[in-house]
Amino acid sequence: MAESLGMWKRSQRVAEISESDIGKELCLMGWCHRRRDLGKLIFLTLRDRSGELQLIVDEDSEEALFQKAQQVRSEFVLAVKGELRLRKDPNPEMETGRFELLLREIKILAEAKTPPFYIDDGIDARESLRLEYRYLDLRRPEMQKKIMLRHQINFFTREWFNREGFLDIETPVLVKSTPEGARDYLVPSRIFPGKFFALPQSPQLYKQLLMCSGFDRYMQIARCFRDEDLRADRQPDFTQIDLEMSFVDEDDVMNLVERYIKDLFKAILGVEIKDPLPRLEWEEGMERFGSDKPDTRFAMELKDFSAVAGKTEFKVFQDCLASGGSVRGFAVPSGADMKRRRIDELTEFAKDAGAKGLIWMSVEDQPRGSAAKYLSTDFVNEAAALAGASKGDLLFFVADEKYKALNILGRLRLEVARSRGLIPEDKWALLWVTHFPMFEYSEEEQRLVAEHHPFTSPLDEDLDRLMTEPTKVHAKAYDIVLNGNELGGGSIRIHDQELQKNIFKLIGLSQEEVEERFGFLLKAFEYGVPPHGGLAFGLDRVCMLLSKSESIRDVIAFPKVQNSSCLMTGCPDYVHHKQLDELGIELSPTTRSAIEAQHKSSEDGAEHE
Ligand code: AMO
Repeated sequence: MAESLGMWKRSQRVAEISESDIGKELCLMGWCHRRRDLGKLIFLTLRDRSGELQLIVDEDSEEALFQKAQQVRSEFVLAVKGELRLRKDPNPEMETGRFELLLREIKILAEAKTPPFYIDDGIDARESLRLEYRYLDLRRPEMQKKIMLRHQINFFTREWFNREGFLDIETPVLVKSTPEGARDYLVPSRIFPGKFFALPQSPQLYKQLLMCSGFDRYMQIARCFRDEDLRADRQPDFTQIDLEMSFVDEDDVMNLVERYIKDLFKAILGVEIKDPLPRLEWEEGMERFGSDKPDTRFAMELKDFSAVAGKTEFKVFQDCLASGGSVRGFAVPSGADMKRRRIDELTEFAKDAGAKGLIWMSVEDQPRGSAAKYLSTDFVNEAAALAGASKGDLLFFVADEKYKALNILGRLRLEVARSRGLIPEDKWALLWVTHFPMFEYSEEEQRLVAEHHPFTSPLDEDLDRLMTEPTKVHAKAYDIVLNGNELGGGSIRIHDQELQKNIFKLIGLSQEEVEERFGFLLKAFEYGVPPHGGLAFGLDRVCMLLSKSESIRDVIAFPKVQNSSCLMTGCPDYVHHKQLDELGIELSPTTRSAIEAQHKSSEDGAEHE
């Protein structure tokens, strides 16, 4: 039976106990972490969000107390009173391991079922089980630390930007669709049947409007929603630290963000980040690392072997070069001893990434490799010299269209480095990637698409080729990268009406479409828009990296899984047809039969259980 608190008041959390409390009576509350019954002695461990403390009921205790302590099980919620004393056998592993509480009274505030997994660090429970019982998973000390770290980062961020004169302004969650490039989540309107709100992919347009309103420095810790394929660093609902500033250029935004990051690392991790951060142009990042978010904690840089490859008779190289392609590759230090099976796996990996094949050669007196029949020792020596490789290394080559080859090799570089333990885990490699292309040609849509979003300003020096060679135009856009992860990105926005019209034209938007989608923003711009720009950090990614977590799910209290569903609540879920009727929504016959089939299969499943 659950006892009530009555007049009991908690005196402190367990980690707030100090020497000065010795001999005093304390009142503590929390969960029973463990119970050890030694017959005449009962040890309980009390856990609250700050840590754990040993409680003891000894042979001199009253019988009633003894019996109560015997009823306690793991995860019961307790309120205890007793005298604090020093332990005879201090536990150096526990922060409060010097102390114990000699109990005088126990209240069982709630009993608990046996949890489906141990409430402890380092458990090997399936993630799906942990997510189904997320509230229990969150009780585990390592999860509590991560969630508390996130709180600290949040709090630090708001304070930091407040000191810098940023105003924290909320923007709506029911919005008109925003142009970030992913699929929108839609919310039907009851009052306007057939009309929909979108959930914001980011507050992009609103923060630009706030600049038009004269707020000049805006920040928000903003919830964003994107219906896209999930990965370890993506969630359908995620959080941005969103910024916008007026009267600034790229350097102003980047310098401010650098100061913030430097102060954040110092405050949260005690780590000193050297500034200014390195800046790498997108093209150079692609050439050297095959990525727009290069992991520079280790070398293994990509090289252009086209000239050396051109001297060979090897048909794969010749055909590729003749069709305007490129031969790129990199050297794996001491890779010559790599097992054939592993090389085959890496070949499959490269193929999955889009390669037609992966060519490998060892750097040895008698080079071995997939093209040993066609490639001479001279070729290998020359290629090795170019890659800075020496005897015992392994060379990988991909011959393809330049950016395709670079992309494949960039992924292979990471895979090889990860599997061979070449990435120093204690390094923090922060850098800027700048000079992104403005547009990318979408094969699927057969048109140019904006690489960032259509309000991103082109570089001044590229303006004269905007209409003639748009794919050669670079943007005033910048991404901040940490250890190979895109932490944040932003740009200077267009505030010239003519230029904006041309950009829309280039990405194939008609005057009507522009009016329909962004008319309200362009109208605002007609009433005096200051030059402005900004950036958004992925807060979840910041927390993931600073807490050294594997996935952003670990730093989100209630995350979704790969298929964007929540295992704890079971959402998304069907709704009552009355709700749909009210919204004027009718499910299509295909959807209805899919639902029926699903119901039937789950009923059949239930019958078989
Ligand atoms: P962008 O689309 O680059 O820019 O997003 C900014 C940052 O948000 C994070 N992010 C995500 N995090 C988790 N899950 C996701 N699905 C997800 N998608 C993005 C990334 C990314 O760097 N409005 C612009 C910013 C601007 O121009 O000011 C924007 O949203 O860390």
